[in-house]
This record gives sequence, C-alpha cells and structure tokens, in this order.
Amino acid sequence: MVENKNTHLDEYLIESWKKTQDNGLMVYKEFPEFNCSTTGRKDVNMFAKFCSLQGKVLDIGCGPSIPSYLKDKNIEVGIGIDPLIEVGGDLGKLNFINAVGEFLPFRREFFDFVCFATSFDHVLDHVLVLKESVRVLKSKGIVIFWVGEKPVTRPNILNRYYENLSRATRTIERRIVKKYARPRQGTSDLRAEAQAFKIRSMQIPKGAIDQFHLKHVYYNELNDLCELLEFTKIDEKFSHSSVFVKYKKNN
Ligand SMILES: C[S@@+](CC[C@H](N)C(=O)[O-])C[C@H]1O[C@@H](n2cnc3c(N)ncnc32)[C@H](O)[C@@H]1O
Repeated sequence: MVENKNTHLDEYLIESWKKTQDNGLMVYKEFPEFNCSTTGRKDVNMFAKFCSLQGKVLDIGCGPSIPSYLKDKNIEVGIGIDPLIEVGGDLGKLNFINAVGEFLPFRREFFDFVCFATSFDHVLDHVLVLKESVRVLKSKGIVIFWVGEKPVTRPNILNRYYENLSRATRTIERRIVKKYARPRQGTSDLRAEAQAFKIRSMQIPKGAIDQFHLKHVYYNELNDLCELLEFTKIDEKFSHSSVFVKYKKNN
C-alpha cells in the first residue's frame, strides 16, 4: 500500500511544484510542436483508441492547448482542466478551465470518464487528486491513465552485459522512438536538440526529481493507489515505456 505523506500541502513543495510548472510552460511556449498530444503522433492515437471516450469526460492536466485525444466524436461534454490554461474557453461541447486536480470545481458523480494523459505525475498531491476523481465520477465511472513504466534496475554484475547489449539495441531503440514519439511532420531534429538543450539548462527545483516532476508515479504504484481507493482494473495496454490503464469505480 502507498502511504500519502502529503496529508497537508507542504509550502516548500508548493513552491517547487510552481517552478516545475514554470519550466513546463516555458517548454510549451518555445516548442509547441512537441506537445505530447499533437495530432498525428502514433502514441497519442493509440491512447485515444484505448480510451474510447464517450458521454461526459473530464481531462485532468489537459495542457494549455486542446489535446487531440479529446476530439473523439462520441464525447457529449468534454472538459479539460489545467493550471497552465491562461484563457479558459467554451468551444461548443469542449470546455477548458484553469484549475487543479486537487480541487475540482464540479459536483459529485457528474462524469462518465476521467482521464490523465501523462499528467498524473505532474500533480502536487496524488491521493487528493484521486479522491477528487472518485468524487466527480458517476457510479461505475471509468478513470484512465497514461503513465510510465518503472525503469528496470539491475544488479551491478549485469551492468556490463547490459551495456554491450544496449549498444547493439540502441539503433533499434532510436528507430522505435522516431516511429512512435515523432512530433508533427516537418519538425526537425535540430528543434529536438534545441529543446533538449533548453531543458538541460533549466533548474531542477528543490525536492523535485527533474525539471518537470516532483515525483514519478509509475505503473506499480498507481495500481496500489487505485486499489486503495477501490477502483477495479478493467484494461491495460503496454506500449514501449508507457502503460495505458483503465479502472472502474466500484460503486
Ligand atoms: C505532460 S503535460 C500533459 C498534457 C496533456 N495531457 C497532453 O497529453 O499533452 C502534464 C500537464 O499536467 C498539468 N498539471 C500539473 N499539475 C497539475 C495539477 N495539480 N492538476 C492538474 N493538472 C496539472 C501541467 O500543467 C501539464 O499541462
């Protein structure tokens, strides 16, 4: 079981979270073509297919622009919330609101689906966000996550073997990354390098694990958290280092 250490929102964590958000915004503004949910990305299309969103949908951490997976024609009402949304908007059945997952401005049992596309490990308090998701979901409602898989840690003795093997597989890996995580067509490798350079030059906030995350929540930990909140896993799909996973609210 996972223990929630942030029973209250620690002030210094809030400051660090704000800095991770500033870093995120800077990258979004300078390199919009790398937005995780840019139309045409294969991994995003796979996620959209996995979700099969319909009815009333809430996307927590949708980013500052409309993610392509929210354009599903079966969605009756789609609401995206994100603290980086500068100007909220009403685009017919899609609405965008500046808000955080820890305090959802919606009544209980309103949504059929809640989804987190690479956003769950950006929030400040994971347990609070999940409790809020449970509150706004209808009975038997569905929550969907796109998260990372925990990187494999190996005993030292295997490292040299792995290094040799990884040299051989690096070329294949590069091809897979190019194929699946490719940004919009026409985006050059130079821009990707410029983005990587920019990220390396950014400060890692105090207590954070990198420029954008206070903590990573990997697949195993997510399963523990969801069990704790009485969700039942109903589907999952592994795709390279990502996992798409679907849970149903028990009642
Ligand atoms: C990697 S982006 C993913 C954006 C979008 N879902 C996509 O697939 O392109 C993570 C997002 O989580 C948002 N976020 C961070 N903290 C949050 C919080 N407490 N509540 C809701 N969203 C949050 C960030 O602002 C950021 O836009």
